[in-house]
Amino acid sequence: MIEVLQGDITTLSVDAIVNAANNSLLGGGGVDGAIHRAAGPQLLEACRALNGCATGDAKITPGFRLPARYVIHTVGPVWHGGGQGEPALLESCYRRSFELALQNNIRTIAFPGISTGVYGYPKGQAAEIAVRLLREFESRFERVIACCFSREDAARYENLLSA
Ligand code: APR
Repeated sequence: MIEVLQGDITTLSVDAIVNAANNSLLGGGGVDGAIHRAAGPQLLEACRALNGCATGDAKITPGFRLPARYVIHTVGPVWHGGGQGEPALLESCYRRSFELALQNNIRTIAFPGISTGVYGYPKGQAAEIAVRLLREFESRFERVIACCFSREDAARYENLLSA
């Protein structure tokens, strides 16, 4: 089943949390910064060994000091108006993250709103893509969580899921 939670994804005791990273995988602000702060310096070390990540792809590391066992790092598209393949790349972030989770026997997984912060993806359009992919994969997991930082983001997901 799909759950909508409002709060800080770094606090969730799930098998995997998904990180909205950048191509370097060397940390940043936003949820990426929060995850690296909470996981501790070993996460950066593990990410260095991954040699970056293409936009739309995903890579996995342990969670180290996080309550989550794993972090799945995915790199969303920067929004340039929607005509440069952004929707397909955002969909790919969710799909590749789910595929990696299945390969690692992950049963509970939480996603932030990939690309909807610094990368500027319109939140409504991003949530529609996210909900479509969460629905496509939910039957293969025990818990699929959309972890929204703000109340309005959570309401947006709840509205889409009740439709
Ligand atoms: N828990 C859950 N969600 C969070 C948290 C948190 N602790 N912190 C931020 N968010 C939400 C934001 O409100 C936004 O809706 O995560 C969503 C994604 O925003 P960003 O973190 O800015 O990620 P993104 O838009 O994908 O930009 C990625 O930002 O932090 C850098 O290194 C990162 O360069 C990369 C870029």
